Amino acid sequence: MTEADASSSRPLPGFLDLMAADPAYSACPEARLADLRARCPVHADPVTGHVLLARHADARRLLNDPHLWRHPSRAAPESLFYRFTELRPVDPTVPAGERTSILMLDQPDHLRIRAPLQKAFHARVFRARPLVEDVVERVLSGLADRHAFDLVSELAVPVPIHAIARILGVAPERQEEFRQWSESIILTLNPLRSAEQDAEALAATDALHAHLAELMALRRRAPADDLVTDMVQAQAKGAPLSDREIMINLTALLVGGNLTTTDLIASGVKLLLEHQEELARLKADPALATAAVEETLRMEGPIDFTVRIAPAPMTIAGVPVAARQPIFALLRAANRDPEVFPDPDQFRLDRHVAGAAPHVAFGGGAHSCIGAALARLEGRIVFQKLFAVFPDLRLEESAPVYRSLPGFRGLARLPVLTRPE
Ligand code: HEM
Repeated sequence: MTEADASSSRPLPGFLDLMAADPAYSACPEARLADLRARCPVHADPVTGHVLLARHADARRLLNDPHLWRHPSRAAPESLFYRFTELRPVDPTVPAGERTSILMLDQPDHLRIRAPLQKAFHARVFRARPLVEDVVERVLSGLADRHAFDLVSELAVPVPIHAIARILGVAPERQEEFRQWSESIILTLNPLRSAEQDAEALAATDALHAHLAELMALRRRAPADDLVTDMVQAQAKGAPLSDREIMINLTALLVGGNLTTTDLIASGVKLLLEHQEELARLKADPALATAAVEETLRMEGPIDFTVRIAPAPMTIAGVPVAARQPIFALLRAANRDPEVFPDPDQFRLDRHVAGAAPHVAFGGGAHSCIGAALARLEGRIVFQKLFAVFPDLRLEESAPVYRSLPGFRGLARLPVLTRPE
């Protein structure tokens, strides 16, 4: 049998072969994704009923298509994606905007809620540099005397949590509680969570919603310089948002933003420490932190895939897609597509020059990540300040351990040493 025969008789990787809990996938996601992209870039997976897109051009086109749907309840009932609704069955007596955040919401509610949130949030992020610098400096100053630490739990986790707490307007004395709620709410991202974890996540969501309701009432009486004030004022000026919609979507900023930014920071530091020439360039020219963030997002994007649903039959590169079939853009595969990124497995800061093809780590179109600018800002500031405080930082062990959360790529821990050998 020739090599070509062998490769064509091997089963194609399906959606369930792209799960972080699978040790072979986790050890090298690229091997499986490159195989799929080479043999069947538009793959109708018979096991899950999902269509998988592994090429950059197909993924980009899908994300930018404004006609597609998002909520799992609109998917074909026989598809795996539809089964996500079983965890939280849709209650038709609750208005759509109060059932789910913008992350899974369809039009017209999605735009009605996203537009005022995006306007207020982006204006805050635009002015957030001093705040994020302060957060990063405080965390780093707590580590200054340490010879060794776990960069995930001691730097990459606290930075995004403290940054979003301060943008929202959480009082300093409530930030420890806020940190605990944030970490528990993240459990909702795991569709395979246990009943116990689900109960913990629900309790944390209720506690956070109660705190946000308190803050909203407070800010209506006494406005402050924070996002909660922006949202209640937008509502008072006529933005068509209920209090519950504001709470759900401010909570979505934590769910969408904290773990992902943690993963960006930890993966980026690991990549830089593994590529000493690129790190030396960054140390010599801290402005390259922008390129380091973009190259990390391309090589080790925190989210492996995102989904859209076909409202009507369509074809993608000649492959028929049925009405209500879920279509997954494999962001990770798209970001290593050699058609768009030559030598895609090389970590190279010089790729990110004006006019270069953009990665799709933040998705795209109507649902594109609302927190991209904040994540980029946090990443840049951490990369600049970390290596200024610890110029001799190095990895303590070479075998990385990744978390097993499906669809996410992030280090469970990253032990580092701060002194030279
Ligand atoms: C490196 C960090 C991050 C990555 C890789 C990331 C990635 C993504 C991706 C892939 C999507 C789905 C896009 C789509 O389906 O087209 C998304 C949506 C979203 N992200 Fe992020 N994200 C990050 C950080 C953040 C931050 C910091 C926040 C908020 C503080 C945030 C909040 C959200 C929200 C609310 C959505 C839903 C947007 C919508 O559906 O309209 N994310 N993100």
